[in-house]
Amino acid sequence: MIPFLDLKAINAQYRDEMIEACTRVIDSGWYIQGTEVKAFEQEFAEYCGTKHAIGVANGLDALTLTLRAWKELGKLKEGDEVIVPANTYIASILSITENRLVPVLVEPDLATYNLCPKNAEAAITAKTKAILPVHLYGQMADMPAIMDIAKRHGLLVLEDSAQAHGASINGIKAGNWGDASGFSFYPGKNLGALGDAGAVTTSDDELAQTIRALGNYGSHKKYENLYQGVNSRLDEVQAAMLRVKLRHLDTEIAQRRHVAQAYMDGINHVGLTLPLSVGEAPLGLESHVWHLFVIRTEKREALQMHLLEADIQTLIHYPIPPHKQEAYGLWNNITYNITEEIHQKVISLPIGPTLNESMFRKVINIINRFAILKH
Ligand SMILES: Cc1ncc(COP(=O)(O)O)c(C=O)c1O
Repeated sequence: MIPFLDLKAINAQYRDEMIEACTRVIDSGWYIQGTEVKAFEQEFAEYCGTKHAIGVANGLDALTLTLRAWKELGKLKEGDEVIVPANTYIASILSITENRLVPVLVEPDLATYNLCPKNAEAAITAKTKAILPVHLYGQMADMPAIMDIAKRHGLLVLEDSAQAHGASINGIKAGNWGDASGFSFYPGKNLGALGDAGAVTTSDDELAQTIRALGNYGSHKKYENLYQGVNSRLDEVQAAMLRVKLRHLDTEIAQRRHVAQAYMDGINHVGLTLPLSVGEAPLGLESHVWHLFVIRTEKREALQMHLLEADIQTLIHYPIPPHKQEAYGLWNNITYNITEEIHQKVISLPIGPTLNESMFRKVINIINRFAILKH
């Protein structure tokens, strides 16, 4: 079987380093807000190029706490509109509604699956106060264009970088374009912990301090509470695991790019829409870290079955768009054509740092056999 993502094999590469790091935490006797979290926050901020990284419990909290902090700082208020792509993982939108802000869903660019700057600008009203672009599938949204719009309209920008650790445009990393950025370290992410974990990156001192307090019961100082906060902290053990994995992130990104290039070169495009090739990608090679390799086809179910029969596992990211979810019943009758086309046709092929040559060659061959059979 070629699994969609072999997390066991990925983490096995670092087993010794992880055991050593874990042992260090066990022996320290200090398990919350200690030296590992502090070190990881420094290392991750440095990696992203930001002044701060604030460890939190997960990626959803990273986004939710940032918006909440802007509310506490008087930069946002209930009812303000936040522009967000309609085709994102639901967490991006949950962070907005959790804060009683209003998500304004915008159709993406079909070629990149990311927020279309033109559509985003057209959706701006007097109530718009922020844009939440998502770097979906590991590919950065058009941040130069989005930041230009934000600047002209005086909007805050919160990047959802949950799928794009290490991606960059013009040498500026995901997480360092907007006013702040949320990261997830869910185990299957490109930088994945051994459990839930997340972080916010920002170069804004006041915002960093506020998020830190909000995630620690609203406390700036022990037993003094400025806000009605929550408990959302990164554990020492997870920080120690992430420190190990951060050291290997760039190598893993290079391995993912190698697989992606082989897919681009090897897969017969007939009847399939592949991602934009490197030459066509306007934001450059570095802007994609291939968290997922997503193709589109009218014959998704048949292709998925054809691959499964050859012991190749695929997944759908995502089968139901947020506006068609029961959780957002009020939107269920709205139609977003591009978003729905994406959700109906996408299929994600196996990709990861441990997918070796014989595995990705097999995926290519089996897909190409499907193309011959079906066209
Ligand atoms: C785009 C996006 N945003 C936010 C999240 C939320 O992250 P987490 O699962 O760590 O809460 C995820 C991942 O699940 C995601 O893919």
